[in-house]
Amino acid sequence: MKKIFVICAACVLFFSCQPSTEVSSPDGKLTVHFRCDACDGTIWYAVARDHELIMDLSELGLMTEDMSLAEDFRLTGISRHRQDTTWETVWGEERFITDRHNQMVVHLLHQSGIRMDIAFRVFDDGFAFRYIFPEQEQKTFTVTDELTAYRFTQGAEAWSIPWRTEYYEGLWEKRNLSPCLPLREGDNPNPTQDTLCSPITIEFADGTYGFVHEAALTDYPAQNLYVRDGALRTYLTPWLGHQSPITSHQSPKAYIQTPFATPWRFVVLTRTLPELVASRIMLNLNEPCKIEDTSWIKPAKFMGIWWGMHIKTMTWEQGPKHGATTENMERYMRFAKEHGIGAVLAEGWNKGWEDWKHFDFTTPYDDWDMDYLSRLSDSLGVQIVGHNETGGNAADYEKDLDSIYRYHEAKGIHVIKTGYVAPIIRTVDGLQWNKGQSGVRHYRKVIETAAKYHIAIDNHEPVMPTGLQRTYPNLMSQEGVRGQEWNAWSADGGSPCEHVTVLPYTRILAGPVDYTPGVFRFENPIIPTTRVHSTLMNQLGLFVCFYSPLQMACDLPEHYMEHADAFRFIEQVPCDWERSVLVDGKIGDFCVFARQERGTDNWYIGGITDEQAREVTIPLSFLNHQSPMTNHQYKATFYLDAEDADWESRPYAYRIEEREVTSADTLHVRMAPGGGFAVQILP
Ligand code: NOJ
Repeated sequence: MKKIFVICAACVLFFSCQPSTEVSSPDGKLTVHFRCDACDGTIWYAVARDHELIMDLSELGLMTEDMSLAEDFRLTGISRHRQDTTWETVWGEERFITDRHNQMVVHLLHQSGIRMDIAFRVFDDGFAFRYIFPEQEQKTFTVTDELTAYRFTQGAEAWSIPWRTEYYEGLWEKRNLSPCLPLREGDNPNPTQDTLCSPITIEFADGTYGFVHEAALTDYPAQNLYVRDGALRTYLTPWLGHQSPITSHQSPKAYIQTPFATPWRFVVLTRTLPELVASRIMLNLNEPCKIEDTSWIKPAKFMGIWWGMHIKTMTWEQGPKHGATTENMERYMRFAKEHGIGAVLAEGWNKGWEDWKHFDFTTPYDDWDMDYLSRLSDSLGVQIVGHNETGGNAADYEKDLDSIYRYHEAKGIHVIKTGYVAPIIRTVDGLQWNKGQSGVRHYRKVIETAAKYHIAIDNHEPVMPTGLQRTYPNLMSQEGVRGQEWNAWSADGGSPCEHVTVLPYTRILAGPVDYTPGVFRFENPIIPTTRVHSTLMNQLGLFVCFYSPLQMACDLPEHYMEHADAFRFIEQVPCDWERSVLVDGKIGDFCVFARQERGTDNWYIGGITDEQAREVTIPLSFLNHQSPMTNHQYKATFYLDAEDADWESRPYAYRIEEREVTSADTLHVRMAPGGGFAVQILP
């Protein structure tokens, strides 16, 4: 009680000085207060929910090569805007998204004469802000640091990965974020040790949730985060150029040209996990779709000449075990056709895999007949998913983008998986981190150019997604995750069961993930120290729990035929949804999603658990969302772990059952250790 009183007193003191520089959410519960200090012109914000301060005064501002843009400001004006619209997604976890927020833009004048605005948007489930440089006399700025801070008033634990995690392919861990316990104290945080990738997912001490990330990252370095002096702070990914890697706060991070707006910094704040997962703030902060005709952008499941390379029964390069041969591709495509899978990926079809450096994106190996396969693709109605691994040589790839995509389009290829295997990539600006400004620009150029040729992108080794798929829906999926492939060869033996129960609440909140679910044989005889830590039913559950409009069923056709009855679920589960609901879950423990197939009344439920067996309760009331008075009968097919299933000892033990259900029913489903389940519900 005392604590609440102190907090309220602080609120009153702060808010009473600044009566007009605040903006509240449409429901009036969340308020962001802006303050430009009258004495030193420093700029700050604070956040209250239900009149309680939940974020204390937090710093705003940027440092440039010439000056600090964090002080010596004067507030010259405020403009406001109210938004309440609903827009339709081209594909997604739901068809319609409502964008309801209140905006306040504070117009600031720096003593140097520079003008900078800060736009704040407050939604019912969180808030966002960005720095804007209107057109003005000074045309260019070199940003060396961003001072944005997030000072939460209560203790918290955050799920995160360290900022230097290669390609973001790490196991997410829970770290203490308590303001009283900074990860590191002192003047110079060590970005190589303490800094975390954005996003982070927060569990606050009072049981509420938060998600800190950025949106609309198109021409700026990716944000990273670290804790110092009681606040979470921003560390921008450095610009490297031709210099050796520099990781200080003074080195260049971004080169900007006015008019310019930084990406949005946003924080989702919800009382429950389902609300956190349902937040669409990130998508709403991105620009509306810039592609006029989107009819060619089609969600699809795909198989691929792929897992064979990871379990080492096939090779990318030409040789006796070459995977991407005409014959093998034809076999995959005919299998896909027979099982209703829309597309097949082929890796290693083009020359250059001998050294992973000099790829030729338009010349196939001799044992790949592109024209024949392109005709076959047409006649079967099974798409070829192209593959452009650059080995991190983004500059060479970028130089030839038009001719590469023209070639693919001519062969009828409308989806390309791109890849950048190299911890530091070579962009047009020299050696760079892929999440630095230059890498971010490259990825955007790829998406924009691909759109001109009606090509959708599945980007591997990406910069962390920030919702750009709203603007460019041809950016369909991305990696940026420790995906299934690690279970084929990882020196640590494969990801622990817990891993998949963290991702829906962390990485996947940043956007669709190409995790590649659907392994049906868990042991790898060639690398026997590694395996998939999962039951077969857990693999099915992933198709519902992990969202991607390009969803790979990654295993070999012959492995699928060992469990053809379970494979039925993969054949039928869609990857484009009308609506999605997190039914129940706990970060790092389990997850149960229900999703309605777009344009139908078919529902799919998927569940996954960590190494603990558990029973979940699922009220089917969501079936009645359209006509609550009716109580239709549905036919439900259950794919369940058997009683004695266990990821370690009996991973292939499952049972399939059918029965009728109505929206009045409640399911009780048991998941085995490392297990899961899937349910198909048809009217
Ligand atoms: C890493 C990607 O994650 C994987 O999917 C791909 O097979 C290899 N790079 C080769 O491009």
